[in-house]
Amino acid sequence: MSQKQVFKPNREFAKDARIKNMCEYQALQDYATEDYEGFWGDAAKEKLDWIEPFSNVLDESKAPFVNWFDGGKLNVSAQCIDRHLHVRKNKAAIIFEGDRGDVQTITYLDLYKHVNRFANLLREDFHVKKGDRVVIYMPMIPEAAYAMLACARIGAIHSIVFGGFSSEALRDRIEDAEAKVVITADGAFRKEQPYMLKPVVDAALTGKTPVKKVLVVQRNHEDVEWVAGRDYSYNEMISQKKSKCEPEVMDSEDPLFLLYTSGSTGKPKGVQHNSAGYILWAQMTMEWVFDVKENDTFWCTADIGWITGHTYIVYGPLAMGATTMMFEGVITYPDSGRPWKMVEDHKINQFYTAPTAIRVLHKTGEHEPSKYDLKSLKVLGTVGEPIDPPAWKWYYEEVGKGKCAIVDTYWQTETGGHVISPLPGATPIKPGCATLPLPGIMAEILNPATGEKVGVGEKGYMCITKPWPAQIRGVWGDEERYIKSYFGDVEKDGKPVYFSGDGAVYDEDGYITITGRTDDVMNVSGHRLGTAEVEAAIKKHDNVAEVAVVGKPHPIKGEGIFAYIVLKCDEGVADEVEEVKAINNIIKKEIGSIALCDDIVFAPGLPKTRSGKIMRRILRAIAKGEKITQDISTLEDPGIVAQIEEMVK
Ligand code: PRX
Repeated sequence: MSQKQVFKPNREFAKDARIKNMCEYQALQDYATEDYEGFWGDAAKEKLDWIEPFSNVLDESKAPFVNWFDGGKLNVSAQCIDRHLHVRKNKAAIIFEGDRGDVQTITYLDLYKHVNRFANLLREDFHVKKGDRVVIYMPMIPEAAYAMLACARIGAIHSIVFGGFSSEALRDRIEDAEAKVVITADGAFRKEQPYMLKPVVDAALTGKTPVKKVLVVQRNHEDVEWVAGRDYSYNEMISQKKSKCEPEVMDSEDPLFLLYTSGSTGKPKGVQHNSAGYILWAQMTMEWVFDVKENDTFWCTADIGWITGHTYIVYGPLAMGATTMMFEGVITYPDSGRPWKMVEDHKINQFYTAPTAIRVLHKTGEHEPSKYDLKSLKVLGTVGEPIDPPAWKWYYEEVGKGKCAIVDTYWQTETGGHVISPLPGATPIKPGCATLPLPGIMAEILNPATGEKVGVGEKGYMCITKPWPAQIRGVWGDEERYIKSYFGDVEKDGKPVYFSGDGAVYDEDGYITITGRTDDVMNVSGHRLGTAEVEAAIKKHDNVAEVAVVGKPHPIKGEGIFAYIVLKCDEGVADEVEEVKAINNIIKKEIGSIALCDDIVFAPGLPKTRSGKIMRRILRAIAKGEKITQDISTLEDPGIVAQIEEMVK
C-alpha cells in the first residue's frame, strides 16, 4: 500500500460528523486565518463554563511567553465534572477494566464524590494549597484520575511520573518540581501477578527530600513498608471525607500540571501546561478528531503517565462529558485478542493506540480481530510515531473492516493536544500521513535557513508559527531552556517560531508527513527518550570511559537503543555478558526498563572530530548496517570507524 493511495471518509459516518467535509474544514481554517482572536475567543466562550469571563484573548507582548484568556476564571475539575451533573449525572464517566477482567463503572456523580473527597483529603489532611506540586506515581486505576482531578480542584499542580520509571528518575522529578506530596499505590496487577510501586517511592525519598507526605492507595493489597508520620492510607482516610469540596477559583493561566519529557540534554524538562487553554483544546480535539457522540465509549490505551493519557483518557473525554475507558492490564494478555474482546464487551466506538501496539497485535494476533464483534468501532486513532504501511493496512482492514477512518494524530507533550490530524468525517486519508493542521493551528514546514515554507517533497522543520491555547507555557524553573529548546532554531519574518524538533515533508496535496526527530531524541515504543539521558545513566558505571547512544530502526518498537561504550580498562572487556548485565542494571536503576539497550558494543574508541565532537551520524549509519559515505579522513582517528564496523557486523 503506497502513500499515494487515498481513502475517502465513510459517507454514512460523515453525515453526522461535527466537521462533515473539507469545505467545512476550510471554512474553519479560513476563519482562524482571518480573525485568529475571534476564532479562539468564540471557541473559549462556547466550550468553557467561566466563573468570570475573560477580558483578552491573546497577549503576546512577552513572546514567546504568552497569555490566553486573561481575566477569565474557571476550575478545570469543574469543567470535567460539575457542569455535567445536571445532564449526565448517571452516565458513565469512566469504565475501568482491571488486569484480571474486573470491571468498575464510575458515573459522573460517582466521579464528583470521589474527586471531592480526594480534594478534601489533600486540602485538610495534607495542607496542599493552590500552586503546590503533587507527584502522582500510580498504576492505571481510577484513583489516578481522581488524584489528577482532585489536584485540579484545589489548584495544586500535579506532575505524573510514569509507573515504569525507576526510583532515581522519580527522585529527579520530585526534586525538580519540589513536590511536597506523593500519591502512589501499593502496586497493581500485570498479567495476573501483583507488581509493586510503593517500594520505588520509598527508595526515591531516601535522604533529603521536599516530600512531607505520601498517600498510598491499596490496589494489590501486598505488604509494604510504612514510614510513620509520612505515609497515609487512602483507603482508610477517604471514607471520612465530605463529598463536597469547593473548587478553587483559578485564573486562565494558573498552572494545571507539569509533565517531564526528554529533550536533548541528560535532564528531562518539566513541561508546564496551564488551565484554560489546555482544557479548551483537549475538549475541542476530542470533539473534532474522534467525533465522540453522547452515547459513545472512547478508549485510549495510553498510560496516564504520558501526555496522551492526560489529554485523551482524562481531561479531553471528561471535559466533553464522554465515557472514557481505562485499562490496567497488558493488551496482549491473556492473548492478543484482549483489546478486541474489550471492544466487543464495552462496545467501544473510538479506539486510540500507538503504532508499536498495532505492530505487536498484528504480529501476534493477525486474525484475532475477526473473532470478535467490532461493529461498534467508528474511528481508529494512532499516535506517537509514524505508522508503517503494513501496520496501517492491517489496522484499516482487519480492525476497522475498511469502514473506520484512521486518524494519524501528530502532536507532542508540548502541544497539549493534537495539532496535525485527519478529521474522520472530512479528510481523505493516506497511510502513514498525519495530513493537515487542525483548524486554528498555524503549522507549517519551514526551511530553517530561510524561514520560508518548503516546497513539495522538500524536507523541512515542523513549526507552528502562531501561539495556540494548549501550547507549553514554560519549562518548570528554567525560562532560558524554554526559549532555547523551542524558539531558538527557526525564525519566520524575523520572529522566532515554535519548532517541534521534528522533520516533515509536504506532498503534492499539501499533506504533511512527519519524517522523525531532527535532534538526539529517540522514540522507543512511542516513548520519548533522549540519547543524552541514556548516556548519562550509562556513564554512572565505574568502568565506562565514554559512551554514545543512537537510535536504530526496530521492527516492533519503531526505534531501538544502540549504545557504543568505551571501557576504562585498556585490556578490553573481561566478561562481556557481565558488563552488559551491569550496564543494563544501571539503566534500570537510573531510568527504568523502558530505556534498556537493544544493542551494546564495546568499542575501542568513538569516531570524533579533531575538536572532540562525537560523529553520531557515523554511529547511526554503522548501527543501521549502512555504508559510510562521508569523508572520515578528518577524524581524530579515522581507523576507528573500520574497527567499529567490524565489531558490529
Ligand atoms: O517525533 C514526534 C512523535 O512523538 C514526539 C512527541 O513525543 P511525546 O511528547 O512523548 O508525545 C507523544 C504523544 C503525543 C513527536 O515530536 N510523534 C507523535 N505523534 C506522531 C509522531 N510522529 C509521527 N507521527 C505521529 N502521528
